[in-house]
Amino acid sequence: MTKSKVFSHVFDEETLRNVNKLQGDGYISNLLGPIGTGKESYVFYSRDFHDNIVAVKIHRHNIDAFKSIPAYIRLRGRKSGGFIKQINDWTRFEYNFLSKAHNLGINAPEPIRCYENIIVMQFIGSEGNTAKLAIKDSDFNVERWYTLLTKFIVSMAKNGMIHGDLSPYNILNYNGEPFIIDFSQALKLSSLTINFLVRDITNINNWFLSLKYKNIKETKDILEEVGWKDDN
Ligand SMILES: Nc1ncnc2c1ncn2[C@@H]1O[C@H](COP(=O)(O)OP(=O)(O)OP(=O)(O)O)[C@@H](O)[C@H]1O
Ligand SMILES: [Mg+2]
Repeated sequence: MTKSKVFSHVFDEETLRNVNKLQGDGYISNLLGPIGTGKESYVFYSRDFHDNIVAVKIHRHNIDAFKSIPAYIRLRGRKSGGFIKQINDWTRFEYNFLSKAHNLGINAPEPIRCYENIIVMQFIGSEGNTAKLAIKDSDFNVERWYTLLTKFIVSMAKNGMIHGDLSPYNILNYNGEPFIIDFSQALKLSSLTINFLVRDITNINNWFLSLKYKNIKETKDILEEVGWKDDN
């Protein structure tokens, strides 16, 4: 997509104001270029006032993109307010889940700031180079990654949280270490959402099966580690 097309897609008046606010408060400098595009967001890189690179994820104020937000987002139980408020709430949820995961010691970008539809977070990569998605770079220790990723899943779930979209498309390979990104579909664990935990586990298991890893854990054993009981 050309620069001007990205510009008109992302920067409606409200978003421009929000970017300006983060710049005025010193969290980011100019947006230096797109590093990723998703259905509902664009991710740019920028610099903070210490000149470190940061990632800036902007949720689009796009009604069509918003319509595609999976129905289960509604399981979060908040859908009041107008369209812009719902996008801002959704962004805040993602930021809160990212913060929670990071505080649990899970490899996830360090959260820096959330303002309206924008998240500023640690840039995962080295100067100028975004870490590659795990689906594109499987140069890692498969046993170590499986152990770590299942540990992360269990740790999140024990603390009442599900990533909700865990797959090699939302894991970056940063110097051989897995970093989980994109908490936009995260959910609180409950009997209404347990199937999303099962889906995350299944996705990870299928991926490692495809990598010919032999010591896959059964879903029920992982749920047991979590301490999940149906009457929770
Ligand atoms: N903190 C980060 N550091 C480096 N790159 C990042 C970071 N966050 C996101 N990216 C890049 O931006 C891309 C899109 O980010 P993310 O998956 O969070 O957005 P999304 O809109 O939810 O995407 P999708 O709809 O495709 O799942 C990622 O695939 C990754 O390449
Ligand atoms: Mg993603």
